[in-house]
Amino acid sequence: MNQLFNISGKRGIITGATGVISQTICHYLASEGVHLILIGRDDSKLANLKAELMRYPVEISTYCCDVTKEAQVKTTFETIAQQVGAVDFLINAAGGNMPQGIVEGNFFDASMPGFAEVMQLNLMGSVYPCKYFGLCASAERTKKTSCIINFSSVSAYRPLTKVAAYAAAKAAVHNFTQWLAVNLQKDNPGMYRVNTVVPGFLLTHQNRRLLTHEDGSLTERGQKVMAHIPFGRFAQPDELTGAIHFLLSDAASYVNGAAIVIDGGLLAYAGI
Ligand SMILES: NC(=O)c1ccc[n+]([C@@H]2O[C@H](COP(=O)([O-])OP(=O)(O)OC[C@H]3O[C@@H](n4cnc5c(N)ncnc54)[C@H](OP(=O)(O)O)[C@@H]3O)[C@@H](O)[C@H]2O)c1
Repeated sequence: MNQLFNISGKRGIITGATGVISQTICHYLASEGVHLILIGRDDSKLANLKAELMRYPVEISTYCCDVTKEAQVKTTFETIAQQVGAVDFLINAAGGNMPQGIVEGNFFDASMPGFAEVMQLNLMGSVYPCKYFGLCASAERTKKTSCIINFSSVSAYRPLTKVAAYAAAKAAVHNFTQWLAVNLQKDNPGMYRVNTVVPGFLLTHQNRRLLTHEDGSLTERGQKVMAHIPFGRFAQPDELTGAIHFLLSDAASYVNGAAIVIDGGLLAYAGI
């Protein structure tokens, strides 16, 4: 294989590992020879995923952690540093919208605890792992390049109706990614790369009920979304793996602070 794109032998952490998109990414990376440290909330889901990934000749470890709790994230990354050692990358995939974060009707009547919960998961749930990644990052421990990939969303660029908190949080993730991409260079120039992926619409747990009826047909909102996707279909989770592979590889050695949009042309389309 061309060394530029060879990611075999790398070792990295993925949060939200048991999510729909992440599971696909985990299978893909393990099949490419990447050792994985899976972070999730549910021990049994983590154990199932680990069992599936053991079919590949790579090392898989699991850690149960709520990424919205700073103390838990700190302890988890300290343990990873002790038990696993140097880690080449961090993928922050934990995130998503929540029913209590949806703003229906008048904003002045919106639930602020729900709004804050969505901000906490999507923004701080990425910020805390970035902060404690330094405990085990290869850049700190072995002076090899380390890489962080955060997850934003098309709603960060074009706020969508109802999902105000989610859109604001993902916009903040995008902005924070750029800030970190610049500021990590002070002590280790060129040793860290921090980028975002920006998925368009996929049918996953968080949005299936908003976009489709039980029989699979599109809701009114689903039809509006589809009318704005030039590809005329939702993305499949495996259509994100190419961007992840690229960002982890030496082919992206000068890519820092970038956002890779994978949306079938949605953001490019003015609707006319
Ligand atoms: N689906 C889309 O259309 C879409 C579009 C753009 C961006 N995204 C982003 O892509 C990422 C993956 O989304 P997905 O669609 O694969 O969603 P998903 O299937 O709901 O996965 C989200 C994952 O985050 C985990 N999680 C939630 N709260 C957590 C917490 N407090 N601590 C630790 N883990 C937590 C969930 O854990 P459990 O397994 O325990 O529930 C789940 O594994 C998210 O950041 C999402 O916002 C998705």
